[in-house]
Amino acid sequence: MKILAFAGSSSSTSINKQLVTFVSQKFENSEIEILDLNDYEMSIYSSDREKSGGLPKLAYDFAEKIDTSDFLLVSLAEHNGNYSAAFKNLMDWVSRIPERKIFGEKPMFLMATSPGKRGGASVLEIASKRFPFDGAKISETFSLPFFYETFDNQKGIIELEKSSEFEEKVKKVIKENFS
Ligand SMILES: Cc1cc2nc3c(=O)[nH]c(=O)nc-3n(C[C@H](O)[C@H](O)[C@H](O)COP(=O)(O)O)c2cc1C
Repeated sequence: MKILAFAGSSSSTSINKQLVTFVSQKFENSEIEILDLNDYEMSIYSSDREKSGGLPKLAYDFAEKIDTSDFLLVSLAEHNGNYSAAFKNLMDWVSRIPERKIFGEKPMFLMATSPGKRGGASVLEIASKRFPFDGAKISETFSLPFFYETFDNQKGIIELEKSSEFEEKVKKVIKENFS
């Protein structure tokens, strides 16, 4: 199985990228590729740009990454209760590829984390409702609040309750998609 992992963030110190990287290590017998959204930066979507220049190659490149994977691990940054502009822009361009749903009907473990108490719950709720229309088959969701207190780069999730919730969810995801 080939796993494609990425954070909905363009930050070079993204906590969501740290989380998704940690989570990817749970899928031991899979080939894992971790994408950086900065490699898919495009000008801000506008219908005028699309009319004059068509779709950027990077939109097709990202779609191909999805299409050549079997499973998606995604962790979303929350900006003002919603997607980061970097992630939304990528979604907008990819959604304009003819006959395409963004996530190509791939199964997905969808997550979010933030330094605050809601752990990106708002963007997670928005994405949970929207992504199925964009061709994501959401297998499970997980939110990690207080990232800087609950996550350790070596040990992973160090808050007990969250750690056991996470392990249960990983088990379910593996059972449903990898066995
Ligand atoms: C413009 C902006 C808006 C933000 N809005 C929220 C928010 O609505 N809720 C939240 O929990 N954190 C918010 N934050 C804090 C982010 O959760 C924090 O920057 C986090 O590190 C983003 O994830 P990343 O590191 O993966 O990019 C915001 C940060 C920025 C820069």
